[in-house]
Amino acid sequence: QKQDDYQLLGNIARYYQHNLKHHSDSKSVIDYLKGRGLSGEIVKKFGVGYAPDSWDGVMGQFGQSQPLSAQLVELGMAIQGDKNRPYDRFRGRVMFPITDKRGRVIGFGGRVLSDGTPKYLNSPETRIYHKGQELYGLYEAKKYAKDLQRLVVVEGYMDVVALAQHDIPYAVASLGTSTTVEQLQTLFRTVKEVVCCYDGDRAGRDAAWRAMENALPLIRDGFSLKFVFLPDGEDPDTLVRQQGKDAFETIIDNAKPLSQFIFEHLLSSLDTNSAEGKAALIGKFEPYLEKMPDSVLKDSMITDLANKFGLGSEQQLHKLTRTKSKTS
Ligand code: UTP
Ligand code: MN
Ligand code: MN
Ligand code: MN
Ligand code: MN
Repeated sequence: QKQDDYQLLGNIARYYQHNLKHHSDSKSVIDYLKGRGLSGEIVKKFGVGYAPDSWDGVMGQFGQSQPLSAQLVELGMAIQGDKNRPYDRFRGRVMFPITDKRGRVIGFGGRVLSDGTPKYLNSPETRIYHKGQELYGLYEAKKYAKDLQRLVVVEGYMDVVALAQHDIPYAVASLGTSTTVEQLQTLFRTVKEVVCCYDGDRAGRDAAWRAMENALPLIRDGFSLKFVFLPDGEDPDTLVRQQGKDAFETIIDNAKPLSQFIFEHLLSSLDTNSAEGKAALIGKFEPYLEKMPDSVLKDSMITDLANKFGLGSEQQLHKLTRTKSKTS
């Protein structure tokens, strides 16, 4: 007999949490978490647990009947090899339960304790886990952050948990290479200010640009998207541990507005002193402006563009105005 999917994953999350305290590896796992600056309290708030280094941990505990072991495979918790019984997907890892907005466990991310690969193993897409739609930590942010006004989007589980550890309980992770349109919609349904704070590396900077592109159609008056660019090699976890809550919040407070991000990024590749450069600039901006709904922000970006770069000729302004009216 199969069980309710959510109930089963909830029970597995509790089993992992139990192992964190009572398995024979317990000490080394707890030392690992302590070494990363996490308290027992925060570990408990996020339901962090431990998957024993066994092929038959979850399977042995939850997959004794044929229907249940099939369900574990369907939910991504076990893998069906060519023959024999399915075996545990997550082995010897620190486990982060991923919850939906109602707090039900829908999947897991598991980190190796040392430097094996992959560093993180995640639940595959299943009938209840759709990675591009979920945000790790959103349930906890809504629960623990009082008067939620803004959300900080980070890349990883550890970033969310480390920020919460430092009394910044309003971070969520997009859990993929980039933040999707669906995730951005969810974010803007929850708060009016979203700050992207990805890792200070090439991948993080690319992720910021893609998030900006995905967000453009969603930015209406009163809503804002901002960006923090961390120093190379840092991520929110390393930074908040070095510098603490106040310094990190100052960085968030001073995040770069979307308009500034676009201007700087597009300008960096052009020589705007030449007429050719100025002409090219309009062409570069157009696709981004086209994606934006009519708003004060869009108007002011068009005005800025015209003023700053002397794009005052009738034809050039006409082009910009066309961009503006097309979406209104
Ligand atoms: P990072 O490599 O930046 O991980 O990947 P991290 O969170 O800083 O890891 P720590 O600090 O070493 O523990 C960011 C996110 O990308 C996903 C995970 O969601 C991770 O949190 N990722 C990364 C994977 O899914 N698999 C991987 O092998 C690596
Ligand atoms: Mn990274
Ligand atoms: Mn990464
Ligand atoms: Mn990172
Ligand atoms: Mn990290």
